[in-house]
Amino acid sequence: GKVGIIGVPFEKGQKKFGVELGPDAIRNAGLLKDLTTLDLDVKDFGDIDYYPETTGDIINMPHLSHVAACTKNLSNRVQEVMNENRVVVTLGGDHSVSVGTIDVLWVDAHADLNTNITSNSGNVHGMPVALLTSELSDYWPHLPGMDWQKPMLSIRNVAYIGLRSVDRYERLVIEKFGITAFGMEDVERYGIHDVVHMALSRIDPHCNKSLHVSFDIDSLDPLEAPSTGTPVRGGLSLREAIHLMEEVHRTHRLNAIDLVEVNPKIGDDNCVKLTTEAAIHVLQAALGHTRRGLKVPAGITD
Ligand code: ARG
Ligand code: MN
Ligand code: MN
Ligand code: MN
Repeated sequence: GKVGIIGVPFEKGQKKFGVELGPDAIRNAGLLKDLTTLDLDVKDFGDIDYYPETTGDIINMPHLSHVAACTKNLSNRVQEVMNENRVVVTLGGDHSVSVGTIDVLWVDAHADLNTNITSNSGNVHGMPVALLTSELSDYWPHLPGMDWQKPMLSIRNVAYIGLRSVDRYERLVIEKFGITAFGMEDVERYGIHDVVHMALSRIDPHCNKSLHVSFDIDSLDPLEAPSTGTPVRGGLSLREAIHLMEEVHRTHRLNAIDLVEVNPKIGDDNCVKLTTEAAIHVLQAALGHTRRGLKVPAGITD
């Protein structure tokens, strides 16, 4: 298998400093070495940089020009990586960077489904799903700098796993459009294995699509991943997240994965260590690590 890593040191989709250090925190915790151990051909495509163009102001979206310029460059880089037939691993940065990738399984404590009108915070990391889906395009004003971004994703192709903090208008949209959403209650009721398979059968009933997973580290319980900007108690265990990713890997259709919202400025060194290690475990499971141990490569056994 071939993998391409992209770092997006971007923090302007929310208000806390530090999440821009996420890509390097995850790299420094040993991601590349750990993936190479899986016999993967790993190539680091470096970090995204960008120059914001001055645009008109949009109400309740203070850093739109930054989001627009950064996600546009990211989108081009993602295309480059895909052209080399590599699975794209995008390291955030905050969750607004997912506007530059296309995502199907959204693993998150939050729905990230606000528009600038419904958002209480004005933080773009609470808006990427609403920006990506065609059904919601009518609810947005014209966004300067975002013309490159066609909302090609249909809401039918999005499934949430792990929700436990959904704003009122987000819930309204989920119900109005019948978006597939498995919250922590469902994980409790059915177990993570069945939840993953129910989610996949809703968005990809014929098992023929390539899958994109957008993994917000805050989907995990803050006990397992404390260094993140909007933690919510009562989340997925690392074991559940690893199993989710093992099942995704078993489809052999994983095409792209985002790992976002790791903020090494939140909590002490131990918190950061827990969080970056959790991120690596999740990525390894997605890319084929098995808890049964790896096989001896062909030709080495006697
Ligand atoms: N719903 C809240 C908001 O709109 C929180 C969003 C948190 N998003 C995230 N990617 N962590 O501000
Ligand atoms: Mn998110
Ligand atoms: Mn979140
Ligand atoms: Mn299973």
